[in-house]
Amino acid sequence: MAFSLGSVVQKISSLVGKGVKGGGESVLGIDIGASSAKIVQLRPSRGAAVLETYGEIALGPFGGQPIGKAVKIPPEKTAEALLDVMREANVTATAGGLSIPFSSSLVSVLDLPSVQPEQLKRMIPIEARKYIPIPVNEVTLDWFVIPREEGEQSAFDRVEKETPLQAKGQEVLLVAIHNDVLQNYQIIAAQAGITINFHEIEIFSAIRSSVGHGIAPVLIVDLGAATTKIYIVERGIVRLSHLLSIGGQHMTENLARSLNWDFEKAERIKREHGLVTSTAYSPEENDKIRTSVLSTLTRVFSEVNRVLLSYGQRYNKNVSRVILAGGGASLPGLSEVAHSSLSVEVEIANPFVHAEAPAFLEKVLRDIGPGFAVAVGVALRKLKSG
Ligand SMILES: Nc1ncnc2c1ncn2[C@@H]1O[C@H](COP(=O)(O)OP(=O)(O)OP(=O)(O)O)[C@@H](O)[C@H]1O
Ligand SMILES: [Mg+2]
Repeated sequence: MAFSLGSVVQKISSLVGKGVKGGGESVLGIDIGASSAKIVQLRPSRGAAVLETYGEIALGPFGGQPIGKAVKIPPEKTAEALLDVMREANVTATAGGLSIPFSSSLVSVLDLPSVQPEQLKRMIPIEARKYIPIPVNEVTLDWFVIPREEGEQSAFDRVEKETPLQAKGQEVLLVAIHNDVLQNYQIIAAQAGITINFHEIEIFSAIRSSVGHGIAPVLIVDLGAATTKIYIVERGIVRLSHLLSIGGQHMTENLARSLNWDFEKAERIKREHGLVTSTAYSPEENDKIRTSVLSTLTRVFSEVNRVLLSYGQRYNKNVSRVILAGGGASLPGLSEVAHSSLSVEVEIANPFVHAEAPAFLEKVLRDIGPGFAVAVGVALRKLKSG
């Protein structure tokens, strides 16, 4: 199974916002997250992407766990979940792309001397050993030479004085994915009857659907169930990435503990009310809900601020804005808290703006959008590259 990353990076900067191929077949974007699977079906039409259908299914119940929990389930169960959501959403397409969790991949930027592609091909598996803590024959490698913008120095040059090697060198984006992970997805796809045309690391999918135009560096926070992904993107290139081992599930657990609720109830109330005061609860209860929810967010935001600061110091330039994605970014009242906690401008991802949809769906798509950032991004790639 081929997975290509290189072309992806190249396409991000050139394709976001531009038209898709003329007419053609409907395509799928599939994101199997730790707590839920999302699927999006798009159709190319007159240079635009039309949203045909979408769906999400919680994976918890397929592993005997409540909705909202991150679960590890066998591939057969995941395939069963996919088939369920495809049926519910009336999915008709049978081919598309599938995202790969950031946590299952290793992404590094290598600084290499400028050599011919043939020599690079021999050099990379050897260089990769320095960055990858597992034997190179257990992973699938892909790489991409990061293009230098004409007339623009790379951020790298600005921090350190150029030495002759750096002046002639090249930056190579290296990605490694464990073969077991790819094999697992092959089983899932086969059992769900889906043809997977490509895999893509979720970061790149989220960038395509959530970052608009502009070359200034942007920080994306993907608030998932068990983890939060933080990465900085500049000109379509991931400059820095960071995985935090807390997410929405942690928030629900805090809430459940503080109010003596079970996980199911805490998960439901979190999604319904979040940080917005509810008349259904006493002032004391409202206080406890807010405190529990904030305790997770405070940790996430202080990490984001730390990453912003260290990026600024390392590259001598500032991130222009923060984009919040992932299911956790749908938390009611999140915007206000994010604005006051973060040192730069904040927005909530709205990936469905890239697809045409009936007007009456606009609010729903905006509300659920952040959780679909990856799935929409995958489908857009397939649509745009054919
Ligand atoms: N409306 C909402 N308000 C608050 N939290 C929400 C809302 N909707 C979903 N979540 C939370 O978002 C999290 C799931 O997000 P998402 O679906 O992006 O994660 P995932 O992709 O399954 O996980 P990961 O990205 O870690 O693999 C859960 O913790 C869930 O409780
Ligand atoms: Mg996710």
